[in-house]
Amino acid sequence: MPNLNENYLNVKDSYLFAEIARRVKTYEKSHPEKADRIIRLGIGDVTRPLTKRAIQALHEAVDSQASPDTFKGYGPEQGYEFTRRAIADYYGRNGVSVDADDIFISDGAKSDTGNMTEIFARDNVILVPDPVYPVYVDTNIMDGKQVVYMNGTKENDFLPMPDESVKADIIYLCSPNNPTGACYRKEQLAVWVDYALRNEAVILFDAAYEAFVTEPELPRSIYEIEGAKRCAIEFGSLSKTAGFTGTRFSYTVVPKELVFRSSKGEEMSVHAMWNRRQSTKFNGTPYIIQYAAAAVFTAEGMEECRENIRYYMENARKIADTLRRKNIPFTGGVNSPYIWFQCPNGMESWEFFDCLLEHAQVVGTPGAGFGENGRDYFRLTSFGTHEKTAEAMERFEKLL
Ligand code: MLT
Repeated sequence: MPNLNENYLNVKDSYLFAEIARRVKTYEKSHPEKADRIIRLGIGDVTRPLTKRAIQALHEAVDSQASPDTFKGYGPEQGYEFTRRAIADYYGRNGVSVDADDIFISDGAKSDTGNMTEIFARDNVILVPDPVYPVYVDTNIMDGKQVVYMNGTKENDFLPMPDESVKADIIYLCSPNNPTGACYRKEQLAVWVDYALRNEAVILFDAAYEAFVTEPELPRSIYEIEGAKRCAIEFGSLSKTAGFTGTRFSYTVVPKELVFRSSKGEEMSVHAMWNRRQSTKFNGTPYIIQYAAAAVFTAEGMEECRENIRYYMENARKIADTLRRKNIPFTGGVNSPYIWFQCPNGMESWEFFDCLLEHAQVVGTPGAGFGENGRDYFRLTSFGTHEKTAEAMERFEKLL
């Protein structure tokens, strides 16, 4: 009999979005007559199709696989140079200098934020905001690591700052934040970078929603902060930016400046470790997808993405207007596709989830799924269509 990884006993039976899907399925089975009415504003899955440039590039890349001269087999594990260069150029246009050699291509920020924990030892102090994207917590628990939470509450605008009495080794930050939509200002990130440098800690900075930042003074990358390359890894994704939730593409920046000492005093490069890990366990994102992603990262490709983002942000405005009319305070929806609000009528989040599903056939995400501090909160996504979002908000307004 194998000895199983018993750390799995310490995580919930199912992942948040799998649990939501299960509950919706159960509802559909017991109310088949209402199944067609269900509007899904739960998981942040996009509804706009891929952009023209992405589709064109996909076709070109597929065709290239039909000829022996252009056919591609295994690619470099770190990703094709042309794709890494396209990402470095994208950073450059946003005023941030990132070395293409520091970029690793992957199939999702979920995989990379989850896998990154492997290169850190078990005895680290791991600091995670609460509420936050559940992958950071679940993957550390699965690996037997202890997580220390920092509170995100309405008092700190859901943007926890360093507590000098805690000496963290690994710090997860997500900005714009999933689920609250709150976004750190530059001077706040500078405090985090300063804290990390003083404590020789590493910040794992999830920037999956950077393209949704509309206020130009807000940072879209931690590398906008001086010194961040000596203490931060950054994760980016095309899932929401370019509608790649099904197509799968992400990148992780691991600067070569991230060097620490082993217990015996040897130098250890985090970049070299991640490269070793990826080349051992991952054969890369498909060439076809990397080719399309490179087209997306051009200035023209990004302009097309921005049109889709504007479309979603209209939904965010509609949701925000409804909440305002109902006097429900909320965060997000301006620099983020998510809107986060306190559940009405003193309900807890799973209770409100059931109520909304049962009486309005609208699916959202219970805040409890993002941590203890989310227990009385709820998240709606703006990734629906205009029609469905408008309909959902009408039903929401009638219900409350
Ligand atoms: C979410 O709804 O929080 C995201 O879509 C989940 C993800 O990106 O994995």
